[in-house]
Order: sequence, then structure tokens, then C-alpha cells
Amino acid sequence: MTRTLAVNPTHPEPQAIAEAAACLRAGGLVAFPTETVYGLGVSALDAAAVRRLFAAKGRPADDPLIVHVASVADIAPLVAACPPVLDALAARFWPGPLTVVLPRSSRVPDEVTAGLDTVGIRVPAHPVAQALLRAAAMPVAAPSANLFSRPSPTRAAHVLEDLDGRIDLVIDGGATQVGVESTVLDLSGDRPTILRPGAVTIEMLRPLLPQVRVRGGDDSEGGPLRSPGLLTRHYSPRALLTLYEGPAGAALERLAHDARLARAAGRRVGVLLADDDRLPGLDVIRPPLGAAGDAAAIAARLYAALRELDAAGVDEILARALPALDGLGPAIGDRLRRAAAGRVVRCG
Ligand code: TXA
Ligand code: MG
Repeated sequence: MTRTLAVNPTHPEPQAIAEAAACLRAGGLVAFPTETVYGLGVSALDAAAVRRLFAAKGRPADDPLIVHVASVADIAPLVAACPPVLDALAARFWPGPLTVVLPRSSRVPDEVTAGLDTVGIRVPAHPVAQALLRAAAMPVAAPSANLFSRPSPTRAAHVLEDLDGRIDLVIDGGATQVGVESTVLDLSGDRPTILRPGAVTIEMLRPLLPQVRVRGGDDSEGGPLRSPGLLTRHYSPRALLTLYEGPAGAALERLAHDARLARAAGRRVGVLLADDDRLPGLDVIRPPLGAAGDAAAIAARLYAALRELDAAGVDEILARALPALDGLGPAIGDRLRRAAAGRVVRCG
């Protein structure tokens, strides 16, 4: 049975944190809130426990885990080398929604890194994550606490939806703030590369890393996929999702047309639109998402909205690609494109 421990999100009760830390130290699986999404934690140095975590999630073994530590001082034993810029990055962005990929030390089990010679490391900012890491006093490997290919959980209820009975404990610290996963920044190669966009944007990184680029950007050299988490199977809702790109008017018109056709064919249709997008007189399921200009609000609601559509039993989801927004805009676009897995309609 999975136990739920409700805690105060900003001042978690020490008793609950101690219980969760003891569970982790005993090799248990503990879901906990971070500022991005809920993570499913396990001792990063316990290979058998890490294998149980992969089994609980149904996650393929070739997808590496992020190791979470309480502070930058805890990183040294996990890595083989630290680039000089790490101190400045840590001072600016940690604790926070940034993961860095560094050459790993031999202390990190192969199970954690999927056999790669690098390890992803993050210092989360959420008070519950911080308290848990300090109480556990060890590095904690934690993927998002969802079943493989389901949207990442942003509430404890999402974790239980996917993993009830498969994990030991979930710490319920309420809804997470950011809503999409951390920025993954690879510092192990010749040139700093963003493998996954998140709340720490390329514009924020550039002052410290003038050479930083986004993997898959126009100057990418192709080559083998360095981050298996970038496979499209991640973040896919149960229903097929189609993404409508282009100017708002044209995209909405085409989306409405296709929604009408799907309804006429007797299909249940869900739509993912900004709250101020107008969709006249259609019988579709439409969870609230946030105003079109408010990337932070949309990111915070995105995965909950996808789960609401799945729970409503829709056969398909029609989503409007929001125009290039600042901040979390690229991260939202990235997650929607992956959820669409190539089903993109260009309009206008
Ligand atoms: O915000 C987050 O990052 C959340 C919270 C819980 O911290 N965690 C998370 O973990 O999203 P997960 O496992 O769902 O995604 C981690 C991704 C992997 O799929 C992979 O793409 C990348 O991080 N990653 C981890 N270690 C890596 C490595 N050594 N090299 C390249 N990519 C790595
Ligand atoms: Mg994940």
C-alpha cells in the first residue's frame, strides 16, 4: 500500500520528513514535490532500489535519472570533474529548476545513469524536497513520479493516479509551482547544450555561458540522441494529440473545423486552448489553461489539463500551439510537440 503524508508545503512537519527519509534510507520509493513536478525518489547509491524504481514506473532502463542533492557542496563525490563555470551557475540558479549533466564518478551506479559516463544533477528549491534531502543525508535519484509515457505529475493525486500500490510513500505538499520539468544543461561536451528547455531559459544562461545552444536547434549537428528523455514517447496523454501551429485566427479556425468533423463522427473531443481563445458553439471538453500571454500560468496547468482530458475519456485532443512566449514558452512548446509526436498541422 502507498501511504500519503500531507505536509505544509513551506514548513513541512519534521516528523513526516523523518519518516520519509527513513523510508528512502531503507531503499524505499518516496514521491515528493519539487518546484517543477513531483519526483519519485530512491537512494541514488542503492542499485537494487533503483531497479525497483524503474520497474514501478515501467521506465525503460536506457533513460538516465537525475540525482538530487541538498546543496552544491554535495556534488563532489558524484562527479569526475567540475567545469569552473559550475560555481557561478550554482550561485545563480541553485537551488532551482536546473539540471546539469557532468562526467560521473564511479560511485554512481550504472542503473542511475543508464550506463552513460555522465550524471544529471539538480539541487531542487522546494522546501519539502530540501527538507527531505537534508534529512535523508544522501543523494536521491528521482525521475518524475508518473508511469512511463504519462504526463509528469504536478499534484500528489496525479502520483497516486499512476503509482498507487507501486510505491511506498507520497509526500503531499500541494500543487507544484513551475509545472514543467527542469532545464537539462549538458556541460560534459565541448559546448554547453540545453537538452531539455525549462524555467531556466537560454537567455538566462547566456551571460554565464555565451556559447550555450539548444540541442536540435538550427546549428545542431544531428548525431546520436544524447538525452533519451527527449524521445517523443514521453509526456504523451492517452488520447492522440494534434497540435495546430500558426497565427491564432487561422489555427483556431482549422482546429474548430477538425473538432466539428470529429464530433460529427461521434468522437469525444478535448481541446487545449488559451483561456482567451474563442471557440464558438462546439461540444468539446475544455479544461482551463491560462491566458494566452501568461506562459507561467499555462506551464503550471499544462499537465493537469492533459490528465483532466484523459480522465474525461476523450478520443482525441486538439491543441493550439501558443505563439512564441517569453520565459516558459519554449518549454511549453517542447512538451506539446512531444505529446503530439509529429501530428502537427500548420495553419495560415
Ligand atoms: O524537474 C525535473 O527535472 C524532475 C524533478 C523530479 O526533478 N525530474 C525529471 O526527471 O523530470 P525525468 O527522469 O522524468 O527526466 C530526466 C531526464 C531524462 O529523461 C534525460 O533526458 C535527462 O533528464 N538526463 C538525466 N541524466 C542524463 C544524462 N546523464 N545525460 C543526458 N541526459 C540526462
Ligand atoms: Mg519524466
